[in-house]
Amino acid sequence: TMYRVGYLVGSLATASINRLLSKALIRLSPPDLEFTEISIRNLPLYSYDYDDNYPVVGTALKDSIAGMDAVMFVTPEYNRSIPGALKNAIDWATRPAGDNAFARKPSAVIGASPGALRTAIAQQHLRSVLGYLRSPQMNSPEGYIHYTPGLFTEAGKVTDEGTEEFLRRFMNDFHTFIVRVLSEPPVGAV
Ligand code: FNR
Repeated sequence: TMYRVGYLVGSLATASINRLLSKALIRLSPPDLEFTEISIRNLPLYSYDYDDNYPVVGTALKDSIAGMDAVMFVTPEYNRSIPGALKNAIDWATRPAGDNAFARKPSAVIGASPGALRTAIAQQHLRSVLGYLRSPQMNSPEGYIHYTPGLFTEAGKVTDEGTEEFLRRFMNDFHTFIVRVLSEPPVGAV
């Protein structure tokens, strides 16, 4: 069975190391996961003024998430938290109230940083948001990737064997997690 995974890269930077990480994850994932980027780039800053007449960029974002079996967040940490562009996209995807695209959507969180804490704090904040949004999250393994120059090639090849093996295992575990969550009856069902 093929599963569609939408992935959000939390960085808008041209040279984003997290975009390279996303390429590596896709390259190392089991063959029955199919990836589509959920772009966060062209969204205005959200306000509830938009709720009565949701713009096409907002509905398109929500429709693309709705069409996925699962979502994966590949994100840097900015100032010890979720990058603003990513949080803005999450806000767009969860409004108007009562129409939250992440509800019951299995998710995984991973990120890379040259810093000692390896995006751990941003990931904790993101996990708190996803919990509120009722997204079943893969709790383990956690994906704290320490970036060193040259770790990924432009094409997303991993130059360090241990990291490559870890990322392969992460995607295998995410696949197992997706299969399990989607086979469970919805919470509250008889
Ligand atoms: C950073 N960086 C950073 N790193 C970290 O580990 N913890 C942090 O809190 C921050 N804070 C931070 C704020 C801002 C505004 C920037 C631009 C950067 C460094 C960051 O990890 C580094 O720039 C990565 O390259 C960002 O990932 P992308 O954007 O290259 O994918």
